[in-house]
Amino acid sequence: MSENNCLEINYLALIAKMVSKYKHRTYELMQLKKGDKVLDVGCGPATDTITLASLVGETGQVFGVDIDEQQIMHANQKAVDAGVNKVVTHYLVNGYQLPFGADCFDSVRSERVFQHNADSNQLLKEMIRVTKCGGWIVVLDTDWSTMSIDTNLVDIEQKIKKIHVEKTFKNSFAGRQLFRMLIEEGLHDIHVEMAPVFATNYRISRQAACLDMAEKLALEAGVVSQFELDALHADLEKADFEGKYFSAILQVLVAGRKPFVQEPT
Ligand SMILES: C[S@@+](CC[C@H](N)C(=O)[O-])C[C@H]1O[C@@H](n2cnc3c(N)ncnc32)[C@H](O)[C@@H]1O
Repeated sequence: MSENNCLEINYLALIAKMVSKYKHRTYELMQLKKGDKVLDVGCGPATDTITLASLVGETGQVFGVDIDEQQIMHANQKAVDAGVNKVVTHYLVNGYQLPFGADCFDSVRSERVFQHNADSNQLLKEMIRVTKCGGWIVVLDTDWSTMSIDTNLVDIEQKIKKIHVEKTFKNSFAGRQLFRMLIEEGLHDIHVEMAPVFATNYRISRQAACLDMAEKLALEAGVVSQFELDALHADLEKADFEGKYFSAILQVLVAGRKPFVQEPT
């Protein structure tokens, strides 16, 4: 496994800890029963599929799909290590075109995947296609425009955020679009919850919000100077040293049911 991939897996483990209560909320909204067959689109290194296995039990089936081969290898090894590889299988597959028949899953979830895709509508359409009528589709994603860091240098913070939103992700606004997307796809019983995340540790916040990347892009674009970045870092490090560092971001969690009769969209 490459160093980058270890970093990515460590990154996902860090985020998983920070959003653990929302992960569990997605499982609740899936309304799982023993024996259910479920799918996690963009499963990463089995962040959720092992827990899902315990919820559907030995008679259930859990599938995870991801476009990253290293994540899939890691995920399958984790399933073996956890002794659930008879229940859980991970495939190297693009969520744009799922290799499953229509109406075959009791519930399908996806977490922080739409933000990485220009055509998240296609991801949602595929998730709906493979879900049984009456089954729940649950999606959690980020609205990166809500990223907020308490600093005295608000102008610099805002310039970096603008570049981050424009360049780091294929769809930084994924979170705020989810409600509309579920309505437009004709899902029923749509439910929305906000999932705010905050950090009071500067180092963790930098990692979780991919700030190294954002600052690199801002420097390259000439939007901020090295002098401004140094000033921002000094301000944030001071806040951290004094125990006053604070940053926050909003995620959106939606759930909806596939109707029994597909209505024209
Ligand atoms: C931020 S990670 C989240 C992983 C996992 N859902 C979690 O909560 O830890 C996004 C994952 O989605 C995968 N991904 C992105 N676009 C995808 C697509 N079109 N189809 C399948 N996987 C995708 C990435 O490879 C990555 O593993």
